[in-house]
Amino acid sequence: MTTYEIATIVGSLRTASINGQLARALTKLAPPEFHFTMVSIGDLPLYNQDDDGNQAAPVKRLKQQIQAAQGLLFVTPEYNRAIPGVLKNAIDHASRPYGESAWAGKPAGVLGASVGTIGTAVAQQQLRTILAYLDVPTLGQPEVFVQAKEGLFDADGNIAASSRAFLQGWMDRYVAWVKKQCGG
Ligand code: FNR
Repeated sequence: MTTYEIATIVGSLRTASINGQLARALTKLAPPEFHFTMVSIGDLPLYNQDDDGNQAAPVKRLKQQIQAAQGLLFVTPEYNRAIPGVLKNAIDHASRPYGESAWAGKPAGVLGASVGTIGTAVAQQQLRTILAYLDVPTLGQPEVFVQAKEGLFDADGNIAASSRAFLQGWMDRYVAWVKKQCGG
């Protein structure tokens, strides 16, 4: 059985992050051949181009995790109508040095949850623009803009019944698309 390693990046460092919960719950909807690794971004230094020739250990680890993956999963909040700075910092790190980006060609899913009614739509659009520049294809449909409300998750941290069919449909589509992108 061909297996697919998916580097999963959450755009919030908060312990109780809704997006972190969403990412963990989503991975439970995937088939067994898909393995999701939560990639840490909170230990990365602030990006400084002076360090391109001597990247810090967490940056090298980030790049290795991305390079080893067949696909990517971004689950992010929206901060002030943009992606959080920690996420942009991670993206910038792994895109450098020039010509040695870890991102190119890795198919990515983009989702997000927020308390606001337009549920990360602006941040996701911005993220898709950044990823397009980095030659990362993104799954276009279905879009997933989750408004975090009481009852989104059940007591075990699973997606509750109200959103489960929709998010299962998203995962099924993502899985089929990643396999296709990987030539499987
Ligand atoms: C927010 N929040 C927010 N929500 C939104 O829908 N659009 C926005 O532009 C913003 N802006 C924003 C800025 C900052 C600095 C913070 C801390 C928060 C609210 C956000 O949706 C809420 O805090 C989420 O719970 C954050 O996601 P996590 O950390 O729970 O994953």
